[in-house]
Amino acid sequence: MQSQCKSSSPHSSNFRVSLFRSGEMVRLFLTLSPAISRFNIYPGISILATNPSLRLQKHHQLKTKTPAFSLIPPSSSPNFQRTPSNSTGTRTFSSPKSGNSSFGDNLVVLGIETSCDDTAAAVVRGNGEVLSQVISSQADLLAQYGGVAPKQAEEAHSRVIDKVVQDALDRANLSEKDLSAVAVTIGPGLSLCLRVGVRKARRVAGEFNLPMVGVHHMEAHALVARLVEQELSFPFMALLISGGHNLLVLAHKLGQYTQLGTTVDDAIGEAFDKTAKWLGLDMRRSGGPAVEELALEGDAKSVKFNVPMKNHKDCNFSYAGLKTQVRLAIEAKDIDCKHPLSSATNEDRRNRADIAASFQRVAVLHLEEKCERAIDWALELEPSIKHMVVSGGVASNKYVRLRLNNIVKNKELKLVCPPPSLCTDNGVMVAWTGLEHFRVGRYDPPPPAIEPEDYVYDLRPRWPLGEEYAKGRSDARSMRTARIHPSLTSIIRADSLQQQTQT
Ligand code: KG4
Ligand code: ZN
Repeated sequence: MQSQCKSSSPHSSNFRVSLFRSGEMVRLFLTLSPAISRFNIYPGISILATNPSLRLQKHHQLKTKTPAFSLIPPSSSPNFQRTPSNSTGTRTFSSPKSGNSSFGDNLVVLGIETSCDDTAAAVVRGNGEVLSQVISSQADLLAQYGGVAPKQAEEAHSRVIDKVVQDALDRANLSEKDLSAVAVTIGPGLSLCLRVGVRKARRVAGEFNLPMVGVHHMEAHALVARLVEQELSFPFMALLISGGHNLLVLAHKLGQYTQLGTTVDDAIGEAFDKTAKWLGLDMRRSGGPAVEELALEGDAKSVKFNVPMKNHKDCNFSYAGLKTQVRLAIEAKDIDCKHPLSSATNEDRRNRADIAASFQRVAVLHLEEKCERAIDWALELEPSIKHMVVSGGVASNKYVRLRLNNIVKNKELKLVCPPPSLCTDNGVMVAWTGLEHFRVGRYDPPPPAIEPEDYVYDLRPRWPLGEEYAKGRSDARSMRTARIHPSLTSIIRADSLQQQTQT
């Protein structure tokens, strides 16, 4: 059942009512405009009720009131804007089944991920069942450019996005009509690339009248661990290591994170990628796996690299200096990256393997040292922590897992590392994170079925996950803070406070 009508409120604001059914549920959206929410041009009241009798409840009777993610910025600006404090966040959510732990098991969410160089989509059920997972990687482009080139990556996403999403639905044996919501990464990442995924997600959601959830890419890396490890409950710690991020966070609850440490310059994945490129390795699977493989042949103590930030008693990272050390070692051994490894002499190959192994050892030692300290800090803040999640592309590295497992075990915690296919970028993590937020009522109502071509999307290329822990601030920190979006945690916290003051 789908219906929509337009009407006018007594205060001459327009509103739109959308009814739509998913599984056992019928949703009703009352969408007000102009923007009255802090983050949303389509703030709405959504009420969930069981089919067939749609139960409308009065505002104050609704069980939870939570802010939604917005994919749509205030029309005056493409960037985040604070609206006056007397504005009302009116997205609410209620279900006759809430309070029951199995609530949401039958929800089915499509997740779309295009923040970097992988075009990924997946369909996941609320009970954690992965119905499908499809990824199209830009292997040839990576090899050609030795890294991600935004314009070429955008074009590659645009070429395959429709097919990837269609394949995900086909493999799940579902059509769009069977979905409960669409989740999509809105940041952080490359704007050009994020836009392709968000546009596609809005088209699907608009055409089939589905709610949307805007997902934080790094939160998705962390939360996918809850899909694989049923026991993993909040609070927990997470080390998120990818091509662009090196984050140590304490996850208090869904959407609320304290950032214990981050990188002051490059992330570890970037250092793996550059090392692979300078060593002349095959970049088609990205640099990390190539370095990991070659490192198995090398002597990890043969090249002396310094562990970064030894004297900084914090939980921050730096990989730019280690990259330079690697480059100098490669130059000193006369290694020519234009000569592929396959045509190297035995000695040349051994030199390359020694550098790969020595780099990997020191890069991971840096992780180990900072993780040890971060666990101590986290246990002071939240003594009930039992788990440490390690996720993101670099967490698929076996040596990384082995070494961090020792650290975590010594601190009497349990390591949770998703399988490699869920550590590197994927649609499952986006769908799952979408589900987690959708279940507690954080979502946006369906976008209009037809949207202008020049529509300005709310993309968040630089979007911190959590609030910085004061003790963890680094003097060495880069001052590049321009155009950073307020953190996910601050947005959710501010809205919760606002909602509380209104009840
Ligand atoms: O999370 P991800 O797939 O994409 C980003 O969000 O950046 O991470 C990609 C990064 C790349 O730098 C890649 O080289 C690295 O993860 N990576 C690895 C391994 N597999 C992927 N690094 C080390 N060892 C691996 N096995
Ligand atoms: Zn990632």
